[in-house]
Amino acid sequence: MSDSHPILLQGAMELEISTLLAALTEVEEQSVGSFQFWQGKLGRRPVVLSQTGIGTAAAAAATALGCERFQPALVLNQGTAGGYTENLHPYDLVIGKTWYNANARFRARYGKTYFLDLVALEGESKEREFTGSHPFLHYSNQDLVAWLDRESLHYTRGRSVLGCIASGDQWNDEPDAIAALQQQTGALCEEMETAAAGEVAARLGVPFGAVRVISNNNRLGEPFEPDTAVALQEWIANIVKSAE
Ligand code: 5AD
Repeated sequence: MSDSHPILLQGAMELEISTLLAALTEVEEQSVGSFQFWQGKLGRRPVVLSQTGIGTAAAAAATALGCERFQPALVLNQGTAGGYTENLHPYDLVIGKTWYNANARFRARYGKTYFLDLVALEGESKEREFTGSHPFLHYSNQDLVAWLDRESLHYTRGRSVLGCIASGDQWNDEPDAIAALQQQTGALCEEMETAAAGEVAARLGVPFGAVRVISNNNRLGEPFEPDTAVALQEWIANIVKSAE
């Protein structure tokens, strides 16, 4: 990690940034419209904390603004997520090795709905070249994934797993639909910002990673627990402070 450029730490909702904000020192606030950024330090490391707002459009815009204004060394998107598998419960962590845009769908003329590769769509005419039965996966920065994975040994509030994050403007509450999505996609959890932030970071050439805490598991009827967001932020504040 480069020392002079900050880490851009993102969270969508107030409850997903407030613990990190309380941990920041030498804080300076900047806002653009309703997008808020706080420059500061976690230990000796320069950090920019960004409240992106909820959903893909807000997350994309906040990432573009944050990268342009602060030239970060990397972007780490963090926050809550709904578990897809039966062995993930509130307080468990999912380190996003991969993620996909759950909004990108193609409904074929004969009725079947496919995943859509937005990049391959340009200039294409053949359906099979830009559609798939499985999602088109994007990869987080490998060094960032490895660092989060190593540091997850110090996370004491739940388990930590590496895997795929489903990301789009959707909230699934129906157990059978979640089970089917999990089977079809292999995703471990769903949330609303990673894909948008990750796509913009990639377009701007900034290393990107995502880590989510399971806040609810609607497949199992485990409701949203807001304190999970605090547990995740406490761990992130500690690992950033102790990063070499
Ligand atoms: N489905 C979708 N988004 C979820 N979030 C937490 N749990 C879920 C879930 N089951 C996150 C999203 C969004 C906010 C509503 O909470 O990322 O920011």
